[in-house]
Amino acid sequence: MKLVTIIGARPQIIKAAALSRAIRNHYADQIQEVIVHTGQHYDDNMSQVFFDELQIPRPDYNLHVGSASHGVQTARMTEGIEALLIKEKPDFIVLYGDTNSTLAGAVAAAKIHVPIVHIEAGLRSFNKSMPEEINRIVCDHCSTLLFTPTKAGLENLKREGFPVDESGVSTSSTTAAPTIDNPKVYHCGDIMYDNSLHFADIAEEKTDIIQRLELKGKPFILATIHRDSNTDHPERLGAIFDALIELSKEKQIVLPLHPRTAKLLKTNLNSEKQTLVFSSPNIKLIPPVSFLEMIALERHAQLVMTDSGGVQKEAYFFKKPCIILRPETEWVEIVQTGNAILADADESRIMQAWAHFKDCPPTTFPEIFGDGHAAEFMLKQMLLANSNK
Ligand code: UD1
Ligand code: UDP
Repeated sequence: MKLVTIIGARPQIIKAAALSRAIRNHYADQIQEVIVHTGQHYDDNMSQVFFDELQIPRPDYNLHVGSASHGVQTARMTEGIEALLIKEKPDFIVLYGDTNSTLAGAVAAAKIHVPIVHIEAGLRSFNKSMPEEINRIVCDHCSTLLFTPTKAGLENLKREGFPVDESGVSTSSTTAAPTIDNPKVYHCGDIMYDNSLHFADIAEEKTDIIQRLELKGKPFILATIHRDSNTDHPERLGAIFDALIELSKEKQIVLPLHPRTAKLLKTNLNSEKQTLVFSSPNIKLIPPVSFLEMIALERHAQLVMTDSGGVQKEAYFFKKPCIILRPETEWVEIVQTGNAILADADESRIMQAWAHFKDCPPTTFPEIFGDGHAAEFMLKQMLLANSNK
């Protein structure tokens, strides 16, 4: 079986490590993977570092699309991916998550009848002002095999008309080969959880970020901010930084800055706040860190504050409370279990959430993301679907 895997943005490169590792360890003689990097992320610390650190095979192709408006970036990727699909003739294209690289892969593949495997299917924010919501809905509805990490994802797909039974497996013509018009849905756990389990101890051994940042034995808050809904709106970015400035009076804050945020801080945060943030000894603004460094930071943090989808979940994997800097989340289970609080970009809600978690840190983290073997399960189902063709 031949797979073409599309990656482009940081979290997709990280997720791809889990699938490539499972192919290498369990299916090397049965599955060939061709990796296509769209070039959506291109700085070394947003891309190359993960290949070096996580043993991801070098991409077979890089489309080098770089940054541009949604339409231009997606169109360039679609054109490049279509040509490669025609050349490589894979049995499946594998798409992760909800970025413009995902959307481009979905549109290119569906139109020329290459079956799509969507990993992280079914997630919804019910907020179509997010570019990611559009991307994930289009991708799900063009897919042949949909792997959803959570029960909420399964319910969302059911509501949108996908044939799903209570066991989590599609009920539509179970003997017939799945197709775009007869898709199969699987509830199988989260591929990011596979990675966090695999790399947690390796991170502890191989990184020295805790010592380098002088965080040993010091409780700190780990924060990340990159959503366009926060970075592109001065009042929202300002409110988040007001909260960070307030929190820094009692706690050390570590903030690895996404390049989007690094750029927009200079224009969208007023000069008074910039001075406070850049001069505070208690706010460590650092460049994006490697994945191993990130999970070391997550493991040692007292609390995580973020608008990232992946970082919210990793906080949960490492049993840390999380303040979500968004009005809603696709990962509803972590809020329902009381381990995360939606505070949006609202200073007083952020401070209330902090007060809550400082006094009552959560103690139970039910298993909602599978058993750490999602990648193997997915590959098994792909092989099965391919043999039924
Ligand atoms: C993208 C995804 C988002 C995901 C995030 C992960 C879309 C629509 N958004 O958002 O879902 O959560 O990746 O990090 O696909 N830039 C650099 N260097 C880089 C990459 C980006 O400087 O290597 C800067 C550029 O100024 C660029 C901006 O960051 O314009 C935004 O990059 P882009 O890939 O368009 O969106 P993200 O905000 O990264
Ligand atoms: N991450 C990282 N270095 C950083 C920030 C995040 O390696 O400086 C990792 C993080 O551990 C998670 C993934 O990147 O696995 C999340 O990506 P991001 O926040 O960019 O996007 P999202 O998950 O919101 O799409």
